[in-house]
Amino acid sequence: MANNNIKLADSMAERVEQLAEQRHIIELGGGESRLQKQRERGKQTARERIDNLLDAHSFDEVGAFRKHRTTLFGMDKAVIPADGVVTGRGTIFGRPVHVASQDFTVMGGSAGETQSTKVVETMEQALLTGTPFLFFYDSGGARIQEGIDSLSGYGKMFFANVKLSGVVPQIAIIAGPCAGGASYSPALTDFIIMTKKAHMFITGPAVIKSVTGEDVTADQLGGADAHMTTSGNIHFVAEDDDAAVLIAKKLLSFLPQNNTEEAAFVNPNNDVSPCEELRDIVPVEGTKGYDVRDVISRIVDWGDYLEVKAGWATNIVTAFARFNGRTVGVVANQPKVMSGCLDIDASDKATEFINFCDSFNIPLVQLVDVPGFLPGVQQEYGGIIRHGAKMLYAYSEATVPKVTVVLRKAYGGSYLAMCNRDLGADAVYAWPTAEIAVMGADGAANVIFRREIDAAEDPAATRAEKIEEYRNAFNTPYVAAARGQVDDVIDPADTRRKITAALEMYATKRQTRPAKKHGNMPC
Ligand code: HXC
Repeated sequence: MANNNIKLADSMAERVEQLAEQRHIIELGGGESRLQKQRERGKQTARERIDNLLDAHSFDEVGAFRKHRTTLFGMDKAVIPADGVVTGRGTIFGRPVHVASQDFTVMGGSAGETQSTKVVETMEQALLTGTPFLFFYDSGGARIQEGIDSLSGYGKMFFANVKLSGVVPQIAIIAGPCAGGASYSPALTDFIIMTKKAHMFITGPAVIKSVTGEDVTADQLGGADAHMTTSGNIHFVAEDDDAAVLIAKKLLSFLPQNNTEEAAFVNPNNDVSPCEELRDIVPVEGTKGYDVRDVISRIVDWGDYLEVKAGWATNIVTAFARFNGRTVGVVANQPKVMSGCLDIDASDKATEFINFCDSFNIPLVQLVDVPGFLPGVQQEYGGIIRHGAKMLYAYSEATVPKVTVVLRKAYGGSYLAMCNRDLGADAVYAWPTAEIAVMGADGAANVIFRREIDAAEDPAATRAEKIEEYRNAFNTPYVAAARGQVDDVIDPADTRRKITAALEMYATKRQTRPAKKHGNMPC
């Protein structure tokens, strides 16, 4: 480990040599054998991760020589290289960012007072300069030897996470252990990318076994797949560190530097010629499913989009994409999963995404094919009312341009929750297959024609007749168009052109809300 007291050399040349030696020792972190062990586990070292993330030679380390000020319990002479975290600034595709990377080879990457101070100072610099903050987590959590000071350090990190929230994008990359209260720091960021080498939980398998008697492995409990498919805590799964860095870079390419800017135009595609394939994707029959991603890939630039939380609440799709180079957030019902119904998890997933986009000036595009909120006792007991309300809240509060396209079903409250005109959609289009109504024709006929159906000689035939009558009268886009709920009924082939034009028109949208400290979104 680095030497605390060195005898200073007399000449500049020797001093430069001493500096290089000291730096080398610091860069060795916990030493060769621990670095080797880290690599054998399929993990990169803290410095390798930063080197992979940033443009070549752009890393400007800050605080390599920082030391803890206290005598650590049982470790009187310890010198802890960089105090177990590498911090600094650099660029990604030429854009400045601030980074931190916990060094697991140094006391398990544990966070004491100085480590947390370094991280918080880096975050403050990100805030000051309006640049994104990225943090590789790989740590045994609070440094046990520093006791309460390490807890306080985490408190400061949480506070800083919240301070940065909505001002600069924060991206957490969970690349190793992240346990206990420490996991609340990534949870307070905007996006979590987790590698398959990492684990994250509040209490590990052993504690769970002793408290509840449940048997679970670390992977089952807090591996990346569990968080993606079951808890919904993370946004992206990465096979390893390299893959995580690629996701982080792609994600950043869609985002602005901070909340006062708009995302840079990237690789615009100005071809908005009709796409006739779009006429063949959505079955006219409402009961048939399809993959809404087949629509997304045909309307966005180059068919390229980045799905967020792709493995959780898959009945709704949230994704970043571009129209003529302009970043948008796409929120689309997914009819191939649960018929695209909105449930508790889908509402939460959409709400978080809408809030992020609105915070960072990213317009929202909705693709609507939703039969309703999911019926069920568990949904009601689980609070579908307050969860669904979040979506209504988020869309109503969002002042970015909002463009809604109704592909097929748009029934009842879920029609509103997918950002209809009344929730502030600036442009609303409907395909000829759209059915915008209070409910489906079957349900509606049963309610309003119940007496006639019961009294009929042939109730089944009368019922079918009434359903047909209702469908033709109400389950079309034309009633909504007549009432000004949609601007136009469009040929699906023209969807890209219409959305692109609307986004260009509303790019200058300026909308304010009454001044308040903050709203009170249900949770
Ligand atoms: C100090 C720690 C440490 C910690 C690990 N180390 N965690 N040192 N404080 N929290 C050290 C080990 O002593 C060891 O040092 C080195 O890091 C590597 O640890 P190993 O156990 O050898 O590694 P591994 O087998 O891979 O296990 C990794 C681990 C395990 C699963 C993370 O170390 C572990 O369970 N650590 C304790 C986790 C924990 O209980 N943390 C406190 C959580 S409470 P040497 O010198 O041998 O290399 C918390 C509260 C935050 O974090 C509150 C915020 C509100």
